[in-house]
Amino acid sequence: MDIFKLIEAAERGERLGRGEIARLLTDGEAGAREALFAAAYRVKAAEVGRKVFLRGIVEFSNLCSKDCFYCGIRRSRPGLERFRMEPGEILAAARWADENGYGSLVLQSGEVESEEFTAFVEDLLRGIKEISGGRLGVTLSLGEQGAETYRRWFDAGGDRYLLRIETSDPELYRRLHPSDHRFDRRRGCLELLRRGGWQVGTGMMIGLPGQSVESLAADVLFLRDADVDMVGMGPYIPHRETPLGAKSGEEDRAARRRRLELGLRMIALTRLTLRDVNIAAATALQALDPAGRELGLAAGANIIMPNITPTRYRDAYQLYDGKPCLDENAADCRDCLQRRVEDLGETIGFGERGDSPRFRRRRLS
Ligand code: 5AD
Ligand code: FES
Repeated sequence: MDIFKLIEAAERGERLGRGEIARLLTDGEAGAREALFAAAYRVKAAEVGRKVFLRGIVEFSNLCSKDCFYCGIRRSRPGLERFRMEPGEILAAARWADENGYGSLVLQSGEVESEEFTAFVEDLLRGIKEISGGRLGVTLSLGEQGAETYRRWFDAGGDRYLLRIETSDPELYRRLHPSDHRFDRRRGCLELLRRGGWQVGTGMMIGLPGQSVESLAADVLFLRDADVDMVGMGPYIPHRETPLGAKSGEEDRAARRRRLELGLRMIALTRLTLRDVNIAAATALQALDPAGRELGLAAGANIIMPNITPTRYRDAYQLYDGKPCLDENAADCRDCLQRRVEDLGETIGFGERGDSPRFRRRRLS
């Protein structure tokens, strides 16, 4: 089929097969990528509107019990100073987000499973609901946990949960993690969260060593079949002090551009396939291009997650090399971001929670 016809079919909502998605991820015909982004943008405008919602993210601890081969805060990384912010500091960040019209907050940290950690987060959630009068939407991104922990956090006021599957290919997953990290458990956690009433988000890293275009196309179908409410995915970026990053060595600009391009096309195809979900323009896009997040919005994303972690902690939360905004404080980011979004002709939904339309519809049906 002609590539432009295929893009039109996708825009109308026809189901794409894996081969077709793979083709759209790579097709080099003149004008094809622009047509793909434009189609995804129109679907976004129709399904979720031309409004960007903000989630202030607080990366409150880099203590982690896992050892993923790609991640800069993995357990066995030597010489990294470990921190956990005090509850008072986290609540101050939440108050700042609320007062500055960020409708939602994301709490992220390394993965820890313990009663102490569960209770720590439970108290935080209650505190955040209290200081914001229940206004702030709260997303947790705290990894794999048991059903009981998820339940306690939901009862304490958590609204949404982000847990990236990282790749939908179990074999690739196995190569990226030590043997006690289980794909099936991670996927099972997504099930638990869905049954527990959460707005559920997942996503992948894009451009991993050994990841084929067919595998990325299968990722899009995984998102469709998992029927998620939110998607957060972004390019993989090597971190020198990790086993995977050390192997790849210095990357040239062409490699980085390729990953950025794939990341943007994945956003577009996710928008064309899942339609009414929230899709984040990941910070990793911005690490590859200063305008990466805006490019993400133009390719179909509608969520931005500005980092509002106090700057003194950011150095110790480098998941990958060259993570942006290391020393810009939250207020600088807010103003800079507002300018950039308005330049695109979009507005920011200040003071709005911006729940996933898919989630709202599911609850009504
Ligand atoms: N490059 C890009 N993303 C990464 N993450 C972890 N390490 C990297 C990396 N080197 C992502 C993972 C994780 C999220 C919190 O950060 O997808 O789920
Ligand atoms: Fe951080 Fe612009 S968004 S400085």
